[in-house]
Amino acid sequence: MRTALVVPAAGRGDRLGASRPKALVPLAGEPLLVHALRRAAASDVVDVVVVVAPAGACDEVRSLLQPVVPDVLVVPGGAERQDSVRAGLRALPADVDVVLVHDAARCLTPPDVFALVVAAVRAGAAGVVPVLPVADTVKRVAGQTVLETLDRSELVAVQTPQGFSADVLRTVHEAAVPGSAVTDDAGMLEALGHGVRTVPGHERAFKVTRPIDLLLAQALLSPEAP
Ligand code: CTP
Ligand code: MG
Repeated sequence: MRTALVVPAAGRGDRLGASRPKALVPLAGEPLLVHALRRAAASDVVDVVVVVAPAGACDEVRSLLQPVVPDVLVVPGGAERQDSVRAGLRALPADVDVVLVHDAARCLTPPDVFALVVAAVRAGAAGVVPVLPVADTVKRVAGQTVLETLDRSELVAVQTPQGFSADVLRTVHEAAVPGSAVTDDAGMLEALGHGVRTVPGHERAFKVTRPIDLLLAQALLSPEAP
């Protein structure tokens, strides 16, 4: 049985505000997507890679990635992240039993995180998410009115790669209601009552969302970075 990596990379990157889709924005001379896949490949736990590319950029993405992952499969994405992940799942070979889903935008995620997530799925979890403690105090609000302050000791911030039993992930995606508010794949399992476990995340697995995140990523790639 094999482990597959599905990389949703079809977003526009509105909050980054670049002139290209976010996954193709250069960081130290190479697109974010190339950084992400090089680290995933270095984990040595991935057998099959499916990249979900912006519609119209599939050929460009395929030739970009050939030197990093020679037999990469590239399929066009959909309107929402969930649609793109589903398109990636539909392209998977039948003998895949574990699936990682990893945002192209988390382009500096170290290889060890991929290995940790796969190990936890192979140990029996239906879904696995890498998490970090929350640094800020988090409040629930309605408009500008504070309703309550949440207990930070019970909160975590969730990253990718998220790992799944392939059968479970395929089933929840095919059962999903289009346009639902779920923002990650593990949330779809939770909604249907499947157990999801955590493993330690990594501070370098942050998501490049806004211009300030790209500056941080650039700084982390410099020789003086901690
Ligand atoms: N993604 C995707 N298909 C979509 C939307 C998002 O494959 N229709 C991917 C993005 O390429 C990214 C990941 O999902 O790697 C996380 O999404 P996000 O950070 O929100 O990226 P964008 O949607 O591109 O950014 P924005 O929301 O600012 O437009
Ligand atoms: Mg988005």
